[in-house]
Amino acid sequence: MRKVFFTLFLAVDFFCSAQQIQVPSLKEAAGFSIGSSIRFVPFMQDDVLRQLQAHHFDSYTAGSDMKMYQIAPREDVLQWARVDSIVAYTQKHNQRLFGHTLIWHSATPRWVEKKAKKNPKWLDGFMKHYIQTYVGRYKGIVDGWDVVNEGFNTKGAGYRTASIWYEAMGEEYIEKAFRYAHEADPDAVLFYNDFNIERDTLKFNSMMKMVTDFQRRGVPISGIGFQMHIRMDIPNEVIAYTLQRAADTGLQIHLSEVDIIFNTHDDSKGGGVQLYDRLTESMRLKQAQKYADLVHMYQDIVPKSQQYGITFWGFNDRDTWINRFFKLRDWPCIYDEQLNPKPAFYGFLNALDAP
Ligand code: G3I
Repeated sequence: MRKVFFTLFLAVDFFCSAQQIQVPSLKEAAGFSIGSSIRFVPFMQDDVLRQLQAHHFDSYTAGSDMKMYQIAPREDVLQWARVDSIVAYTQKHNQRLFGHTLIWHSATPRWVEKKAKKNPKWLDGFMKHYIQTYVGRYKGIVDGWDVVNEGFNTKGAGYRTASIWYEAMGEEYIEKAFRYAHEADPDAVLFYNDFNIERDTLKFNSMMKMVTDFQRRGVPISGIGFQMHIRMDIPNEVIAYTLQRAADTGLQIHLSEVDIIFNTHDDSKGGGVQLYDRLTESMRLKQAQKYADLVHMYQDIVPKSQQYGITFWGFNDRDTWINRFFKLRDWPCIYDEQLNPKPAFYGFLNALDAP
């Protein structure tokens, strides 16, 4: 049936503008939640984006709007207006709101860093107040949180030590963040979230050591977030291996920031290497296969009860963070620069095996 859709909609695609395209809905085809990161202000001004978002997704992750630099821009200021608007939007559209992210070295406002450098003891109290006010305010509304994001080194083993949280509080900051969040909302699903853990087994092992230690000691972690910013040449076998080991913990597994690039980078700002200048038809088809492979791995390896969902980090090549951040021209998403579905979209859709 889906194959018929595929042919039909490719034909429709040829004659119609983006607004007119009616493709099957991802959220209806999936047996788990499907989401995308969203930048709220431009999103609310873009009718096509909003139509597509409501059609395909039942989970909403803020790309930046819920980070600490937005919520606590100055000392003694906590600003909720944007989050309240996001809550209103998600409730109106019956979408799950996912909280990204409570503690992330890279989203820590300058004033917090300065203050903690002068007085490291202050940071724990601030963290507790921030997390409990925030999680408490949206208790029962935000379904789950990336409690700590990117707490391990970019490459290889070990904690990320170049972080004010680690410098002031040691590795215990991660455990404390989970405990504070759990106290504020015992029903919220609490994730540790990181990148490259699907491919860098040294980094993955460090994270798993922490996760299993948390489980053994009753630290309230409920999930592992694989950001899953992957490349076409990351072997499926490696991804399957790490997913399997993570699923074996019994925790929720979220593919939390999915995109698939062709070019490469060194993980730093501006660190892109432009290997491909244009997107050929054969590349589009290979990418469709890779998206399908990812869905198959998620469905086959992660038990249904542990499938928290798949979230794209932006769903179209026009707005993707990849090009801005790495100074690249790439095409990592399921929709293209004109907001039309790519073969990647159909690869993803056709691999979904529910309901
Ligand atoms: O809001 C201002 C806007 O007013 C201004 O006109 C514009 C000009 O540059 O900047 C806007 O803020 C930007 C914000 O994104 C909103 O788009 C910030 O400069 C920019 O630094 C910020 O970047 C975000 C980044 O995280 C840092 O928060 C990216 O959009 C977002 O995609 C990226 O997401 C991260 C995940 O949280 C964690 N995993 C990696 C992922 C990609 O880096």
